[in-house]
Amino acid sequence: MVNRETLEKEYPSYKRCIQDAFELGQSHIFKWWDEITPAEQKHLLQQTATIDFQFVHKLFNDNRHKTQNTHQGDLVPPQIITVPKNASELALAQRARQIGEASLRRGEIAVLTVAGGHGTRLGSNGPKGTLPIAPISGKSVFQLHAEKIRAVQQKYDTCIPWYVMTSETNDRMTQEFFHSHRFFGLDSQQVCFFAQGMFPAVDLNGKLLMNSKSDIVMSPNGHGGTIIALKEKGVLKDMEARGIKNIFYHQVDNVLIKIADPVFVGYHLKNEAEMSLKIVKKCHPEEKVGIVVHSNGHLQVIEYSELSWEDMYARDGNGALKYDAGNIAVHMIRIDFLEKIYQHGDALPFHSALKKVPCLDENGDAINPEKNNAIKFESFIFDVLKHVEKGVIMETLREDEFSPIKNMEGENSPATARQDMINLFGRWLRNAGISIPVDNHGNVIGLIEINPCFALDEEELRNKIDKHLQFNGNLSL
Ligand code: UTP
Repeated sequence: MVNRETLEKEYPSYKRCIQDAFELGQSHIFKWWDEITPAEQKHLLQQTATIDFQFVHKLFNDNRHKTQNTHQGDLVPPQIITVPKNASELALAQRARQIGEASLRRGEIAVLTVAGGHGTRLGSNGPKGTLPIAPISGKSVFQLHAEKIRAVQQKYDTCIPWYVMTSETNDRMTQEFFHSHRFFGLDSQQVCFFAQGMFPAVDLNGKLLMNSKSDIVMSPNGHGGTIIALKEKGVLKDMEARGIKNIFYHQVDNVLIKIADPVFVGYHLKNEAEMSLKIVKKCHPEEKVGIVVHSNGHLQVIEYSELSWEDMYARDGNGALKYDAGNIAVHMIRIDFLEKIYQHGDALPFHSALKKVPCLDENGDAINPEKNNAIKFESFIFDVLKHVEKGVIMETLREDEFSPIKNMEGENSPATARQDMINLFGRWLRNAGISIPVDNHGNVIGLIEINPCFALDEEELRNKIDKHLQFNGNLSL
C-alpha cells in the first residue's frame, strides 16, 4: 500500500483529503494504489476530494448505536382539504382550479421530477423513467410524464419548463434516452437535467466500501439532495429567469401522477403556502408509507418505521385511523422558500439505513452480500416541512393519483402500475357511459390506454368520447 507521505508529495493539491482519509481511518481506499493504472489513480483521488471525511465520520458515530427510532413528541392529525363530498366543497375546488389555471397560463409553474434514485428494489439496469410501462403502446414512464406536460401546455396555452433531477450514475443514460426519443415531442429547451450529489456508503465499522480497486461506493444523497442541487447547479436561477414562482414536485416512479393539477396549484397559491402536499388515506395501519402530522409545533412526515405501535393503530372518535394521512411525495413548493431553506445550511438531517451493498472484500474480491453489510446516508425532502409556516395538505384518491413502481414483482410493481392505469381509464370510460367489464377484484378485463393529449382527465374524456363505443377488450385512444 502506498504511504501517506508519498501521496501527499506527489499530489499536493489533494493533500487535505489524503490527510483526512488517513487520519480518520479510511486509508484502506488506497490499498490497491500500486495495482491500478494512472488514470484510475486520478479517478480515485478526484472521488476522494468530493468526500467530506469529517462529516462521514461524525454521521457514522452519531448513528452507530441507534436502533430503531420511534418518533418522540405529541402527534396531532393535520388539517386536510378532503376530496369534495358536497356542492360547497366542489365550489371551493372549482375556485382553486381557476386560480391554478390562471397561474399555469401565466407560465409561473415548472415541473420537477426527481429521478436520481438507484431503484435497487426494482433491480432493472436503466433509470426507472426508461421502463416501458404503458399498457398497450409500451411507452416509457418518462414518455407518459412528457405527454402529460404537453397536454397541460396545450390546454392552457403555456410553456411548462421540466427539470429532471438525475444522479451521477444515471444522468448520461437519462439524457441519452430523452435525446433518442426527441424529447417526446417537447421542446428540448424546456427540459433541463441536473445531477444531485453523492454520498459514500460505509460498512458496519464505518469504513468506506469499494466498488473496485479504484472506485469508492457512492450513492445519491437522497431526495433531500434536491435542494442543494437546485441551488448549486444554478437551477433556481434558471427558474427565476424563466419567471417561475412555484414548482410542482413529484417522484419519477408514480405513473398516475396528475402533473401540475390546477386544483392543487390553486389551493397552494390561494393559501400563500410555502410548501404543500398531497396525501392519500392509508389503507391499513401497517402500510409502509410516511404519515403527515403536526408534531412539536410544526408539520412533519413520520416514516412508517418511526411510528410507535400505539400511534399506528390509534383510532379517532369515529373509529377511523387517527393518523391516516399517507404522504405520496407530491408537492407544490415556492422557489423563494427553497432559497431560504438552502441558506439555512443544515436544514435537512441525514437518515441512516442498513443495506446490502455489493463491494470488494479485504482481499479485493467482489462480494454480493446476503445480509446487510452497509450503512447508507440520505436526506429526505419532507424534512423541509418543519420549516414551513404555511402549508396546504390536500387529500386525493389513491386509485386516481398514486401507483408507484418500487418492486419487480408483487405490490408496487410494473404489473400493478399497468393495471392501475387501465383501471383508472376504465373508470373514466364507465363514468362516460361506456360498458367496461371487471373481474372479482374490480380490475378491468382487457387493455385500455388513453393518451393525455386526447384526454387529461375524466371530464375531457366525457366531452370527446363516442357514447356508442363498444369496448372489445383493447382500446387505445
Ligand atoms: P425511493 O426511495 O423509492 O428510491 O425514491 P429508489 O431509488 O427509486 O428505489 P430503491 O429504494 O433504491 O429501491 C423515491 C423517488 O425519489 C427519487 C427516486 O428516483 C424516486 O423517484 N430519489 C431517491 C432521488 O431522486 N434521489 C435519491 O437520492 C433517492
